[in-house]
Amino acid sequence: MLIRYKKSCEKIAMGLLSFMPLERNIKKLRQTMQDYEENPACQLFMWKKGEDFIGMIGVQTNGPVFTVRHISVMPSYRGEGVGQTMLEKIQEQMEPLEMHALEETRPFIDVYKEKRKAFDR
Ligand SMILES: CC(C)(COP(=O)(O)OP(=O)(O)OC[C@H]1O[C@@H](n2cnc3c(N)ncnc32)[C@H](O)[C@@H]1OP(=O)(O)O)[C@@H](O)C(=O)NCCC(=O)NCCS
Repeated sequence: MLIRYKKSCEKIAMGLLSFMPLERNIKKLRQTMQDYEENPACQLFMWKKGEDFIGMIGVQTNGPVFTVRHISVMPSYRGEGVGQTMLEKIQEQMEPLEMHALEETRPFIDVYKEKRKAFDR
């Protein structure tokens, strides 16, 4: 289930964010968290399975598009479709905005877009 980030899961959100290659530096990580907390265009969501938060996805809206800035899944839950499901759910949530990617998230989002094209055919 995709739920909006709350301050109470700050530590787990930071842990998940730190799996993004450009977020390994603690200063950068704190700055990113601050963006999500303070910039209304930036929104962070957590993926909850049972009682656990096992994934996160962070987006930024800009006119008719939203950009997936961060996406991360706990290593022990990877390869089970969580990442792709988060993209599906975030697209539903952001409708009618169009999903864009950053260089850091593009490879995984391209996989999602290809699968969606194949499904729509
Ligand atoms: C990328 C990430 C979110 C994928 O989450 P996941 O839940 O394991 O992904 P899913 O199980 O939904 O999807 C698996 C599919 O995506 C592909 N995939 C996984 N990681 C990928 C990546 N970094 N780039 C491109 N494709 C990727 C897999 O090959 C697989 O494809 P298949 O079903 O055709 O075999 C996860 O590996 C992660 O947290 N990585 C560290 C953070 C990161 O680098 N994020 C940015 C990635 S561009």
